[in-house]
Amino acid sequence: KTIHILNGPNLNLLGKREPEIYGHETLADVESACAAVAAERGHAVRLFQSNHEGEIVEQIHRARDEAAAIVINPAAYTHTSVAILDALNAFEGPVIEVHISNVHKREAFRHHSYVSLRADGVIAGCGVEGYALAIRRVCSLIG
Ligand code: DQA
Repeated sequence: KTIHILNGPNLNLLGKREPEIYGHETLADVESACAAVAAERGHAVRLFQSNHEGEIVEQIHRARDEAAAIVINPAAYTHTSVAILDALNAFEGPVIEVHISNVHKREAFRHHSYVSLRADGVIAGCGVEGYALAIRRVCSLIG
């Protein structure tokens, strides 16, 4: 089965952007780590990143046909996007929300997540390892 790993705005800069918060690893490193974990269980991953809310919504629509599960770091849209929440509500498989940083230790505006109203699980503050942990979890859920 295929697991979609969706990433929101500014995560294309992962590894270069505020490394004291987000670390030095890139999205390409995340993809290969996740692919290895999924492959152990006979699954595949597809990573997508966009700085545009509507493109993320459309990718979630595609996941309805193409993905058994979604791992999503909506980045700043976590805290603002009803559209991404609604799109995820139209997806039937497991959804795990990932944040590289511990959003609860940061500014108050990062403490609320629209996506958490849909997510089956949330991982925050485990660095980029959080993505591989999320893949492990969805593999258990999809079998
Ligand atoms: C983030 C946390 C968000 O608050 C922030 O806007 C991001 C990244 C994280 O992975 O820690 O861009 O989702």
